[in-house]
Amino acid sequence: MAELPPEIDTSRPSSARIYDYYLGGKNHFAADRKTAEAVLAAAPVARTVARENRAFLGRAVRFLAAEAGVRQFLDIGTGLPTERNVHDVAQEVAPSARVVYVDNDPLVLVHARALLTSSPAGRTAYINADLRDPASIVSSPAARETLDFSQPIALILLGVLHTIVDEDQPAAIMKTLLDALPPGSYLAASHVTAEHWPQDLAEEGQSQYRAQSGPLRVRDSDEFADLAFSGLALLPPGVVLVSEWRPDDSGPRPTPSEVSYYGGVARKP
Ligand SMILES: C[S@@+](CC[C@H](N)C(=O)[O-])C[C@H]1O[C@@H](n2cnc3c(N)ncnc32)[C@H](O)[C@@H]1O
Repeated sequence: MAELPPEIDTSRPSSARIYDYYLGGKNHFAADRKTAEAVLAAAPVARTVARENRAFLGRAVRFLAAEAGVRQFLDIGTGLPTERNVHDVAQEVAPSARVVYVDNDPLVLVHARALLTSSPAGRTAYINADLRDPASIVSSPAARETLDFSQPIALILLGVLHTIVDEDQPAAIMKTLLDALPPGSYLAASHVTAEHWPQDLAEEGQSQYRAQSGPLRVRDSDEFADLAFSGLALLPPGVVLVSEWRPDDSGPRPTPSEVSYYGGVARKP
């Protein structure tokens, strides 16, 4: 692991590192593993949830680059770098693709160099910023220098909107972000849900997460669709469990309670 600056508190769990633990990554500490195991004990599906969401990221970004022809990506709530980051997937299709990454976890900043390994034809940048201050993201010099805001941009909000509680005014956040994008832009979003969990499990899993890792607002599919995709044209198959969004094969897939993430991709008219 890269040398850690003092502002990184390894004694407290972080959602980015817990997610990394579920994905089988290497960037987590004892406090993260303890929380992750506590959540797994209450909600054993948490690991499958993370993996299905990450697989959706791969399929959605590949679709956006290959079929929708998008060449610019703004990925907010990036997470710790892994094997298949947005630029890895997009530049496989289009080496000139440009990606701006945004996360508010200082540990992601420490690892940002791994996110900046763009193909020579493309470009990547990293911004340490908070989704709750969307104006600072879309007006930042790094975003403005890397992306051309007169051309379509795919906004990627995967696994992050559920950290935005109602008091943070999530609808206003979405409006600021989407207003900054030109027509023909896209949004890919995913969101955790407790809709398919037995009530006691849902409550226990959420309270474990909240107590140790921060705010969490689970939403059902209608709440998620309203928040993320209002005013946009949802592409088929609409808002579905991430495992059901244009799967690569017809093999067996996990059950709805094992997935517990909704996802969708939409176009700004
Ligand atoms: C579950 S991970 C998702 C990673 C990746 N987008 C994916 O879907 O595989 C959530 C990420 O969002 C980041 N995050 C949480 N709240 C945020 C906020 N308010 N602003 C920016 N990033 C945030 C966390 O630090 C973490 O890296």
